[in-house]
Amino acid sequence: MAAGARRQSALGGRQPVTYIGRYPRPLPAISLGGVETMTAPFADIAACVFDAYGTLIDFAAITRRAAGALGGRAEALGTLWRSRQLEETWLRTLVGRYIDFWQITGESLDVAMAELGFSDPGVRAQLMELALQPGAFPDAAEALSAVRRLGLRTAVLSNATPTMLASAIDGARLRPALDVVLSADAVRLYKPHPAVYRLACDRLELDPKRIAFISGNDWDAAGAACFGLRVVWVNRGGGRAGRLATVPDAEISSLAELAGLIAP
Ligand code: LAC
Repeated sequence: MAAGARRQSALGGRQPVTYIGRYPRPLPAISLGGVETMTAPFADIAACVFDAYGTLIDFAAITRRAAGALGGRAEALGTLWRSRQLEETWLRTLVGRYIDFWQITGESLDVAMAELGFSDPGVRAQLMELALQPGAFPDAAEALSAVRRLGLRTAVLSNATPTMLASAIDGARLRPALDVVLSADAVRLYKPHPAVYRLACDRLELDPKRIAFISGNDWDAAGAACFGLRVVWVNRGGGRAGRLATVPDAEISSLAELAGLIAP
């Protein structure tokens, strides 16, 4: 939504910003030899790094596709499962007790089912099977291709295990549009720990300011911004920005808006 995209001023220790030019986006002020000049946040990027679930891959589709078996519980289970999954990643990263994302995904499903008051090994097996290939959001493939046409590299950086990512990406036929796929498993920590975002800089051999990180998860966008990446939050649900640590460089409502946002 070229006209409607909300670009927000960066707070929380980032550069003061102003709005000028073609896009009303935040423009960090930089000083060159005493002459104050302005640069757009995405002017120097060389790569777009995407989160997986909630950004390219539709995690909520898992329970939607099992709606026949779940009945009226599909939406509640999907929401609770995702919440418990994420909470466990944060807790385990804070206390230093890593287990991989596949194990967390299974255990959090058990917890969510128990909280909703049911247990069904057959449904559990079906959901875990679907979790290997949830499918992509309809805007994902074209957005990756559009980024490539701009001459930028494309990557995924996800908490999911390499096996989960390979299955989800191949199942969604996104592999040909991706240069690099990175898993937090390499550092045995989860986003928003800075060490995970650093994986992208190290692998792409780019300074954080040369990477646009794109996430549909507001906490992930906040983590990436705190690390120093350029950040686009894909606000698919039309929610209010709620993270206090920082705000993204830009907010879009669908990946279809990405190329227009970052194009030179
Ligand atoms: C991921 C989760 C956080 O793919 O969505 O990393």
